[in-house]
Amino acid sequence: MRIVATRALPGPAWAELGDVKIGLDGDAEILINMNEPVPFDAMPKLRLVANFSVGYDNIDVDECRRRGIAVTNTPGVLDAAVADLAFALILAARRRLVEGDASIRAGGWQPTGGLLGREVSGTTIAIVGMGRIGGAVARRAEGFDMRVVGVRSREGDLDVALREADVVSIHTPLNDATRGLLSRERLALLRDGATLVNTARGAVVDEDALVDELVSGRISAGLDVFVHEPHVPERLRGVPNVVLTPHIASATVETRAAMTRVVVDNVLAFVRGDPLPNPV
Ligand code: 8YV
Repeated sequence: MRIVATRALPGPAWAELGDVKIGLDGDAEILINMNEPVPFDAMPKLRLVANFSVGYDNIDVDECRRRGIAVTNTPGVLDAAVADLAFALILAARRRLVEGDASIRAGGWQPTGGLLGREVSGTTIAIVGMGRIGGAVARRAEGFDMRVVGVRSREGDLDVALREADVVSIHTPLNDATRGLLSRERLALLRDGATLVNTARGAVVDEDALVDELVSGRISAGLDVFVHEPHVPERLRGVPNVVLTPHIASATVETRAAMTRVVVDNVLAFVRGDPLPNPV
């Protein structure tokens, strides 16, 4: 079967696929991509989209089904890496790590009055989305003696959790039910000095409203995802109370190799005609 990929994947499993063409190919039956829109018209023979990503919000799964195209993703193997980055952002934002680093690099030390952050240990964390990744964040939070409030799907629970949380960490997929879930009104429920961390998808939050809150200095944040990546709202560049990372939550050598392993296993199963390990 003809396999194409939008780019070569890292890790040893990749070689098992042999010759994979990088780029579009009208004859391809298998496309390996990174949560990107499927070019249906340019690839009429497509039968499988093997997604190098657990999130598949940019893939029109309904249209794939209509056309008889299977879709797979990479659940499970990136939970720890994403939870670790969520925690790194919680700690960095609340303890003002990047400000301290920048101050030293600029030839300084602490500003007059000190670089006072906010406590992490002993505070309350609301975890919005208690799936595999949310659960991994909860386990880390327990190690920091935090009180964990897990928010599943009931919106009333979300409002209560936002009011009482010192830290809010988002771990929902992006879909019609979660787009804009953290609306302007809901962000206003956050306590002064609270910290919002997003390693899920930018569009789960009203980004304009979040930028307003951050510019005002009322809350802090750690953001790995944005609505229009790679665009980051210009107004955030001068804001000290936000730590910004370029969508790197799953980006470790080990996790990316494990994601490649999952992609390759799905492709090989498809080629053999076996059941797919990770159908969407
Ligand atoms: C990747 C991701 O950054 O898995 C996801 O949902 O967002 C990340 O793992 C990316 O999609 C890699 O292609």
